[in-house]
Amino acid sequence: MSDKDKVLSILKEVNFPGFTRDIVSFGIIKDINIDNGKTEISIELPKEDTEVAEKIAQSINNAFSREGLSLPEFIFSVFKKANGATTEEATKENVKLPDISKYLAVASGKGGVGKSTVAVNLAIAFSRKLKNMGLMDADIWGPSIPMMCGIDTKPMATKEEKIVPIEKFNIKMMSIGFLLDEEDTVIWRGPMVHGAIKQFIEDVEWDGVDNLVIDLPPGTGDAHLSLIQTVPLSGGIIVTTPQDVALIDVKRGIQMFRKLNVPVLGIIENMSYLQNGDEIIDIFGRGGGKKIAEKFEVPFLGEIPIDPSIRKGGDLGLPIVFSDPDSSTSKAFQDIAERILENL
Ligand SMILES: Nc1ncnc2c1ncn2[C@@H]1O[C@H](COP(=O)(O)OP(=O)(O)O)[C@@H](O)[C@H]1O
Ligand SMILES: [Mg+2]
Repeated sequence: MSDKDKVLSILKEVNFPGFTRDIVSFGIIKDINIDNGKTEISIELPKEDTEVAEKIAQSINNAFSREGLSLPEFIFSVFKKANGATTEEATKENVKLPDISKYLAVASGKGGVGKSTVAVNLAIAFSRKLKNMGLMDADIWGPSIPMMCGIDTKPMATKEEKIVPIEKFNIKMMSIGFLLDEEDTVIWRGPMVHGAIKQFIEDVEWDGVDNLVIDLPPGTGDAHLSLIQTVPLSGGIIVTTPQDVALIDVKRGIQMFRKLNVPVLGIIENMSYLQNGDEIIDIFGRGGGKKIAEKFEVPFLGEIPIDPSIRKGGDLGLPIVFSDPDSSTSKAFQDIAERILENL
């Protein structure tokens, strides 16, 4: 292995701050120069950000130290498009944003914690307070909005070739799942992810939608970065279950939003407890979500119990806040929706 390959393999172990993706695959390493045992690394950042630059340098230094190598020198620059604009300026120029006033992203550290369930039920709860709700399923790897909302029709296109969202529960919705057949699998690669996210914003007829809830993929990755680069997110909501293993990932979600200047609107603890008549059964360690919210000084938005009718509603395409709005579980969703609106 050449020295340059060795350096590259070390850099592949260094993640971009706040992301689970490494700096090499992010495409920010412009050049590696090795001369007389001195290594010089040129790094191109998407925008001017000394904090990010320092973090990257620190992580690379740590990786070099671990390998017993002398520390490299860094040259940082900001990426310029052919027309001389930075990525940030270019994104603003290129993307024609719809006339949406609030973009709310629902995130989770890992899959299966009920992120989509929360996104759908919150959107329905919001739609009783706000007009013109939209719901965008950005979880392109595991779109679940079609099943949860019982939608199996394909959307139509306008004359201008924009996709018309499907309307249900008084909410305009878009999901990649509307366009694919159940057996279809798509292997998403980096640039495609960015393209898909951009299209979901630009090429969908969001006219008339004022508030858009976005169901993000689990974790922190390409789709999150693309979305945050494309639209001005008004806030991020993080869904977790109470177990310690789930909470570890919450920290990463908070860091991602903070890094990208998106306000964290708060944490929701899903599957907090099970209610059996008057008895409350604590299955996963209720209260973990609240503790982590306090630790990171973000609002705790509330608890959703484990409720078999949530799962049944999800499977039948009838979200509980729509089918049984007066149940205590639906009340929990509605209270959380109100808290979010107060904090916005
Ligand atoms: N509070 C809850 N009580 C019972 N079942 C739930 C609850 N929240 C989610 N579920 C069920 O758990 C499964 C995973 O939820 P989902 O929203 O798809 O998770 P994610 O989007 O985080 O992967 C679904 O079958 C859903 O119906
Ligand atoms: Mg989901």
